Amino acid sequence: MSDADAQKQAVGEAAAALVEDGMVVGLGTGSTAAWFVKALAARKLDIVGVATSQATAELATSLGMKIAELGETREIDLTVDGADEIGPGLSLIKGGGAALLREKLVWEASKRCVVIADAAKVVTTLGKFALPIEVVAFGHKTTSLRICDALAECDIGIAPRLRLKDGQPVRTDGGNLIYDAACGRIEEPAALAAALKSVTGVVDHGLFLDLADQALIGGPDGVRTLEP
Ligand code: A5P
Repeated sequence: MSDADAQKQAVGEAAAALVEDGMVVGLGTGSTAAWFVKALAARKLDIVGVATSQATAELATSLGMKIAELGETREIDLTVDGADEIGPGLSLIKGGGAALLREKLVWEASKRCVVIADAAKVVTTLGKFALPIEVVAFGHKTTSLRICDALAECDIGIAPRLRLKDGQPVRTDGGNLIYDAACGRIEEPAALAAALKSVTGVVDHGLFLDLADQALIGGPDGVRTLEP
């Protein structure tokens, strides 16, 4: 197992230890969140999971966990999820796994959100990881031009690229498309978030600001905790 994978496993297990019997738990998406789901299932608690993607729902169900749709349960007590970058104040880039919209819906419906990641995800400025932007398929090329304008308003002079897999556009669980914006440095994440949300056709973006309550970060010396 690589060092990064060992760190992902360690933070997944540490996060699973935060869950208590009777909780409604938001289940993140990605390789780190999968360690959390596996460690949580192994605890055999009486909990209900709310999955942030079809892939996570399938994993959790295969491990015998009870799953409910968002809104079918009382409020989510705790959500645990991975991230692609963790910046100052626990600002995040998410969506590398194309689940950003469902993730954000679940995060925003949670009393507490804990982000888990290996040490390489912690950065001083967001933006090295290309920012995922989810758009509706209808007219997406036109929308991408308007995204360019929104990026330019924030002094980011790049064009977002349609995410492809095996030569075909990637579809999210909701049937939308993803554009990735290789911003380089995002000096003002809140301004960029607002500019992107103002574009008709943009469903959401991978900037998660003021949402994470705590981060568990792996490292060679074990798991450390970060607060906003
Ligand atoms: C899924 O859309 C993402 O937000 C993931 O949580 C993020 O990409 C982190 O994934 P890994 O844990 O696989 O690095």
